[in-house]
Amino acid sequence: MSSDAYFRCEDVHAWYGESYIVQGVSFAVQEKEIVALLGRNGAGKTSLLRTIARAHQPALKGGRIWLDGQPLHDMAAHEAARAGVGLVPEDRRIIPGLTVEENLIVAQVAPPVGWPLERLYEHFPKLAERRRQEATTLSGGEQQMLAVARALARELKLFLLDEPYEGLAPQIVREIEGILMQVKAIGITTIIVEQNAIAALELADRAVIVDMGEIAYDGPAEEVMQNAELRQEYLAI
Ligand SMILES: Nc1ncnc2c1ncn2[C@@H]1O[C@H](COP(=O)(O)OP(=O)(O)O)[C@@H](O)[C@H]1O
Ligand SMILES: [Mg+2]
Repeated sequence: MSSDAYFRCEDVHAWYGESYIVQGVSFAVQEKEIVALLGRNGAGKTSLLRTIARAHQPALKGGRIWLDGQPLHDMAAHEAARAGVGLVPEDRRIIPGLTVEENLIVAQVAPPVGWPLERLYEHFPKLAERRRQEATTLSGGEQQMLAVARALARELKLFLLDEPYEGLAPQIVREIEGILMQVKAIGITTIIVEQNAIAALELADRAVIVDMGEIAYDGPAEEVMQNAELRQEYLAI
């Protein structure tokens, strides 16, 4: 593994209480690269994203995590966020009682600030239309757009997406895909976890497959697309 990678996990171990979940994970992501983090249900994908974002749980017990020369392993969640890690969790974490615009403004109260409101609305015209609407009244797809926009409202060095297409109709999935293609064109380094492996592989440069808390595959996204055995063994598709 090259030691000058933009982002890297080195022998990362993480636990939920007594449960040993992330079992010695090492992988790297180059700047501007998009990595699809795949694997069966319960493989440890969410746990790994939460570990990288330095969530309180699971607890990191051993290993190093580096982002652009900064030691994430020494940081708490708010410090990792300030260092440029933006996690869009499965539950999207929209703030109830606030409008769409207030949700975006809250993301920008402290530096380092990312895209200004005008730029966010340019990329998310639906959110511009609904800026005065209470955010929890948005459709699932619009809430997902807001969650992505909130991450971009911060200065973003590593974008972590946990199942952004989950529970969305195909039409809406295509819309979110369009937005993520724009994010890719801009060159934001991204790790995307997705049960819809094909959709994630279409977006990604590289695939990392997790199985039982360990890395089972790390290679080009096209290879996973073409390798039915690999997909069957680790992705059940
Ligand atoms: N809060 C938790 N406490 C204890 N075990 C958990 C917790 N969250 C997840 N796990 C366990 O960790 C393992 C990996 O889960 P997870 O990271 O959510 O997998 P994935 O996102 O790949 O579906 C599973 O066995 C799951 O039951
Ligand atoms: Mg998960």
